[in-house]
Amino acid sequence: MKSLLSIPCLYDAFQFLARGKAYQERLARMFIRARPGDRVLDLGCGTGAMLSCLPNVDYVGIDMSPAYIAAGRRRHGARGRFLCMELTADAVEGFTDFDVILAMGVIHHLDDARALNLFRVAYDSLRPGGRLVTLDGVFTSGQSRIRRALLEADRGRHVRSEPAYRGLATDVFSEVKAVVIEDLFRIPYSTLIMECTR
Ligand SMILES: C[S@@+](CC[C@H](N)C(=O)[O-])C[C@H]1O[C@@H](n2cnc3c(N)ncnc32)[C@H](O)[C@@H]1O
Repeated sequence: MKSLLSIPCLYDAFQFLARGKAYQERLARMFIRARPGDRVLDLGCGTGAMLSCLPNVDYVGIDMSPAYIAAGRRRHGARGRFLCMELTADAVEGFTDFDVILAMGVIHHLDDARALNLFRVAYDSLRPGGRLVTLDGVFTSGQSRIRRALLEADRGRHVRSEPAYRGLATDVFSEVKAVVIEDLFRIPYSTLIMECTR
C-alpha cells in the first residue's frame, strides 16, 4: 500500500478519498488565507494539491519526488513553478520574501534535526510578518484506537504529540498558534495545524 502511494495518480486518488475537496477549501479559507499576488512557497508540495484552491498567487512548490513534481507540472502548467529537490539547509538559498509558506503533511516525515531545518529554512524565506502553515497527524491523549492505529500506519515515521511539534516550531518562531482538528478528513484522523509568524 505504502509503495503504491508513491505513484502520483494513486496518491491523488487516495487523498481524494481520505480528505475530499472540502478539506482543501477549509484549509485555504481558515488557515492559509493567501491573497491574489502573494508569493507562496509549498515545501513538500507533492503533486501540488494545495495550488488548486489558492487564488492567483506566485507559487513555487518543491518536493524530492521526481514523479510527484512531474505530475504537479502536468496538472498545473504555468500556474506554478515545481522544483525537484530535497529540503536541505541550503536548498532554498536565494528564496526570500515569501508571504506564505506551506508544509502540509511534511513534518511527520522528518526526524527532529530535519524538522528543525525546515522551520529555519521557512523562517529565513519569509518576509517579516509572513506565515508558515503546517499540517500533520498528531497523537493526543485519550485518542480512540482507530485514530491511533491510522497514525501509526502513516508513511511518515515521525508523528508526534502537539507539545513535541510545538517545541520544534518555537525553537525558531516566537509566535506559534496551534490547533488540533478531529474532523478535517473523511477518515478518523487527528490533525495539528500550526501557524508560525515571522
Ligand atoms: C504526505 S505528502 C504531502 C504532499 C502535499 N503537501 C499534500 O498536502 O498533498 C509529503 C511530501 O513530502 C515530501 N518530502 C518528505 N521529505 C522531504 C524532504 N526532505 N525534502 C523534500 N520533500 C520531502 C514527500 O516526497 C511527499 O511528497
